[in-house]
Amino acid sequence: MNIPSLTRCSNLLVAPLYSTAPTTTTTVRCSRAENIAIEGCNLNFSFTTNQANAVPVPILKDCSLRIPSGQFWMLLGPNGCGKSTLLKILAGLLNPTSGTVFVNKPKSFVFQNPDHQVVMPTVDSDVAFGLGKFNLTNDEVISRVSNALNAVGLSDYMKRSVQTLSGGQKQRVAIAGALAEACKVLLLDELTTFLDETDQVAVLKAVRNSLDTSTEVTALWVTHRLEELEYADGAIYMEDGKVVMHGDAASIRSFIEDKQSIYIKQINS
Ligand SMILES: Nc1ncnc2c1ncn2[C@@H]1O[C@H](COP(=O)(O)OP(=O)(O)OP(=O)(O)O)[C@@H](O)[C@H]1O
Ligand SMILES: [Mg+2]
Repeated sequence: MNIPSLTRCSNLLVAPLYSTAPTTTTTVRCSRAENIAIEGCNLNFSFTTNQANAVPVPILKDCSLRIPSGQFWMLLGPNGCGKSTLLKILAGLLNPTSGTVFVNKPKSFVFQNPDHQVVMPTVDSDVAFGLGKFNLTNDEVISRVSNALNAVGLSDYMKRSVQTLSGGQKQRVAIAGALAEACKVLLLDELTTFLDETDQVAVLKAVRNSLDTSTEVTALWVTHRLEELEYADGAIYMEDGKVVMHGDAASIRSFIEDKQSIYIKQINS
């Protein structure tokens, strides 16, 4: 299968974007090729509450995805469809109930809230924070910090107190920290939710630039904002715990826009 090509099932266009109507999952063939950085095969995940006689609640249903190395992909879908759960499984923060996961290492998960990202008082010390384990010389640390801050457009902020940064700048410092550690995969969960438009675009450009300046970094970005697809190479659309579509960003965008307009027509008729 040609991964960037669009994959979908034929009955999807009739379902409104926020419908809970069942849809058939897209088919992604699971046979890992060398250039694949992220792969999930037939992933299922269920929660079971602690209550007596509780039955497992299925959250992810047979989700498969493949993301080529060096590409910037986005994961979209209505609230509660399972995007964060899938990302946490890829990050290794949750174990799937069944199915297999492959993600290139090292990998880094960046959280939604910018205030949860930064731990050190200044920008350079925060980016250098994770480098202690690598046994690097001082010059190597300085070089890695400087290159990473350059990639996210924060070269002039090295000595700034992190408390004086905007939310988007804190997100970019967190991404620089992952780049300094030579992370090959960035898993980014709705980073732009709390950001104003300027910060939102700056974080997106930082991720795009990080990928464009390295052939090694791959990113998966969860978002609700369709306009962000302009920066993506590929995208995955989920509904009700299933991967519904998987393909190039422009096609996924027009698929979602079609669904939205059909839904709007239905509620106006
Ligand atoms: N710890 C948990 N216990 C029980 N159910 C959970 C838990 N975490 C998530 N869920 C449920 O799993 C489903 C998927 O949640 P998830 O957070 O992955 O969705 P999402 O697509 O990221 O939503 P959003 O767009 O709102 O962030 C939801 O129905 C949610 O209520
Ligand atoms: Mg979420």
